Amino acid sequence: GHGVDRSAREVTVSIDGKEVCVPEGTSVLRAAALAGVGVPKLCATDTLEPFGSCRLCLVEIEGKRGFPASCTTLVEPGMKVKTFSERLASLRRGVMELYISDHPLDCLTCPADGDCELQDMAGDVGLREVRYGYAGKNHLQAAKEESNPYFTFDPAKCIVCSRCVRACDEIQGTFALTVEGRGFDSLIQPGPTGEFLSSECVSCGACVLACPTSALMEKAVIDLGLPSESTDTTCAYCGVGCSFHAE
Ligand code: FES
Repeated sequence: GHGVDRSAREVTVSIDGKEVCVPEGTSVLRAAALAGVGVPKLCATDTLEPFGSCRLCLVEIEGKRGFPASCTTLVEPGMKVKTFSERLASLRRGVMELYISDHPLDCLTCPADGDCELQDMAGDVGLREVRYGYAGKNHLQAAKEESNPYFTFDPAKCIVCSRCVRACDEIQGTFALTVEGRGFDSLIQPGPTGEFLSSECVSCGACVLACPTSALMEKAVIDLGLPSESTDTTCAYCGVGCSFHAE
């Protein structure tokens, strides 16, 4: 559960030199947030169980090899965590580059423009160039799934973070969504037939709320062209995405 366990022991860790005291069993990502340190992330949320798939939240931990994902690593007493270094920055840019290379470059006309975590993270990690080609060629062929009266699923915009699958399972207790395939070919699949309407979906909308992009989008938002909260886009610092497209 996500409630504070009163019986849990407190553990003191250092995040970028800031000491923070958190209950045993807290993730390093959560401890960082409690210390006021934001770590880039895409597949983790404040409420869903950690999944560890996006590899953006990598950190360095003194005495440990490699770059563990902070969302799936639990705090240990005295742990010293570094959330930023040149090496981490370059690893995160590399991860983001792969995401953007398989994503349509239509931020300016996308219904999620200004309200998209992928866009935000591309800006946060300082992505400047993409070397592997563009435009989600793996998924562009796949048709939008429109059978649900309230929302659409656009596979081209999906980054397979599995937040929708976990929201369906953990919040709604339904298993309407699954991840099919692997790597670039992996795809979120509603129900065994690929249609929301014939799946176990009860249209609760938890998956739409959980989606960090516009892969799952309320039809009202698309149809009415409702303004997103922010008018600024991260393109100003991202330097790839739609500004590349506009040139
Ligand atoms: Fe940790 Fe995605 S947020 S791997």
